[in-house]
Amino acid sequence: MLSPERYTVTAALIYANGPIHIGHLAGCYLPADIYVRYLRACGKDVAFISGTDEHGVPITLKARKEGKTPQEVVDHFYGIIKQSFEDFGISFDIYSRTSSPHHHQVASDFFLKLYNDGVFTEEVSEQYYDAEASQFLADRYIMGTCPNCSNENAYGDQCERCGSTLSPKELINPRSTLSGSVPELRTTRNWSLPLDKLQPALETYIASHPEWKSNVSGQCRSWLQQGLQPRAMTRDLDWGVKVPVEGADGKVLYVWFDAPIGYITFTQEWAQQQGKPWEPYWMDDKTQIVHFIGKDNIVFHCLIFPAMLMTHGGYALADNVPAMEFMNLEGDKISTSRDWAVWLHEYLEEFPGQQDVLRYALCSAMPETKDNDFTWADFQARNNNELVAILGNFVNRVLVLTQKYFDGKVPAANTLSAEDQAVLQAMSGFPHKIGEAIDQYRFREALGELMNLARLGNKYLADAEPWKLIKTDEAAVASILHVALQLCASLSSLMEPFMPFTAKKLADMLAHKPLAWAEAGRADQLVAGHQLGQAGLLFSKVEDSVVQQQTEKLQARKAAREAAQQEAPVNPLKETIQYDDFGKMDLRVGTVLEAEKVAKTKKLLKLLVDTGVDQRVIVSGIAEYYTPESLVGQQVLVLANLAPRALKGIDSHGMLLMAEDSDGSLRLMQPQNGARNGSVVA
Ligand code: MF3
Ligand code: ZN
Repeated sequence: MLSPERYTVTAALIYANGPIHIGHLAGCYLPADIYVRYLRACGKDVAFISGTDEHGVPITLKARKEGKTPQEVVDHFYGIIKQSFEDFGISFDIYSRTSSPHHHQVASDFFLKLYNDGVFTEEVSEQYYDAEASQFLADRYIMGTCPNCSNENAYGDQCERCGSTLSPKELINPRSTLSGSVPELRTTRNWSLPLDKLQPALETYIASHPEWKSNVSGQCRSWLQQGLQPRAMTRDLDWGVKVPVEGADGKVLYVWFDAPIGYITFTQEWAQQQGKPWEPYWMDDKTQIVHFIGKDNIVFHCLIFPAMLMTHGGYALADNVPAMEFMNLEGDKISTSRDWAVWLHEYLEEFPGQQDVLRYALCSAMPETKDNDFTWADFQARNNNELVAILGNFVNRVLVLTQKYFDGKVPAANTLSAEDQAVLQAMSGFPHKIGEAIDQYRFREALGELMNLARLGNKYLADAEPWKLIKTDEAAVASILHVALQLCASLSSLMEPFMPFTAKKLADMLAHKPLAWAEAGRADQLVAGHQLGQAGLLFSKVEDSVVQQQTEKLQARKAAREAAQQEAPVNPLKETIQYDDFGKMDLRVGTVLEAEKVAKTKKLLKLLVDTGVDQRVIVSGIAEYYTPESLVGQQVLVLANLAPRALKGIDSHGMLLMAEDSDGSLRLMQPQNGARNGSVVA
């Protein structure tokens, strides 16, 4: 789209069942905020829309666990989440919620329109029902034994041990997670969106966006290749938007049907507050619509939501969905249930006034093209070696020297030397360079360019040595500081999307109002004679003790969790077997040669293992506990004569032996002191 007239930028509606952590920030909210702040600085008309997703099974399960109502749970977390975003400087135009009556109305009307247009297919099916709890058991409300690997704690939608996708009816010995009772099958009727019929239109849509990030279009193409299936858009649950048709008592809209409609609802709420129409933001082809999400949300935003909008009619489709990969923490997957995370509300309390340090560290390591790792050591290094040593140091030297030699007034540019002119010339290119990278969702590169501008300034001062020159040529020093101050002004405008708090501080020190983006490279941003404000430090060092404290805190949580696990009862003994039963198993020592994630799964890794006998592919459900890199070269124990089976379309030849605790956590079994590959375990 050539120069859109306006922008609708959304950031995923996070489930209101827990607080925000750095993974959410790096993967969605920070890039969205940088993008939006940049657009605003360019003078664009932008609506930045987000809020909480307050329906769905994750909310009801949390409520059950805490003995609260779902409404109490979402009220609690909505407050925490909204506040922490605000304090972190995520500049939403509106942050609303899907449990509001207005949203219920809009989502309900949307469904009804499709229903009346005859879009849905009606599907009568048998579903498990818990008679004690009087409830149908969707997805995670049901557990049983996995038909593939005999894991006794498989869920109705997935076995976390072997990673296979399941439907409740495939479970052996199903039990209700609500009452523990054995559920009965009852027939129920639900409405499906015929994604199969919409496939050609969706293919055209995806094909019309060759500019999308390759991780995004790759996932879309692989879904399309497998062939889309009709998907139920209603559920037998009592928490959510009621299905607005007769005979649908006890049914609500599928959470992935109502949640994305929230983007529209919230835009309406915002537009009303602003006293302007909302329709241009969703119904005009000259509007650039961009969804910021994490990679686990790709199918919903690129295929299912567009399918809903197409069948409804009248809406424009997203122009881009720049999904990010995941951020890990200190080499381990971030996990809410394992409390392995840096929580935003805790950071804000422990590092008051230092939002920008985290924004900078997260943007520097943003998982744009692959998963990435956040470590406290990196946080410290980024702060001390880059923010303090480069950016802060440059600004401070310029301000202090100006104070000292010219009473804090911008000196006049006398004759400019070739060097002075070269610096001004280089500076003039930065707004475009940084802006272009942001425009193309290359945030790390954009931030790198910002730092290059500061580096340019440092080198300029180091070469010109105004502190020496002052003794012989005050006029030349005036010119140098005049130019260096223009760089400072430029930095204060161009850093705003990334570090808005520091941008403000610097603007105050310069007594300068940030300029429009395109003006931020000009040679006359600060005029001669302009009185600067009070100089101060932009950043301060992060001490080793701080890093140590944070890593200890993480380790302590891990230890506490492990201790709690020790208290939990271990799984009961299985029935007695004969030696022959054991002897049938061919267990071997092997070494992992290669490891990679299986696309579109959270748990599966595809491994190439040398068993001493052969090299073979084994698919293992350990991705939540081990990164691919950490496994390569590791010895493992392999059940080598297990019949091959297909997992996500990959033939797996055998199984890795693991210690599985009663909470389902996994640890690899390895031979002590190493053993030759092919050694038999007996
Ligand atoms: N609640 C989902 C999650 O946290 C995201 C929903 S995004 C929306 O993964 F499109 F539905 F809004
Ligand atoms: Zn299984």
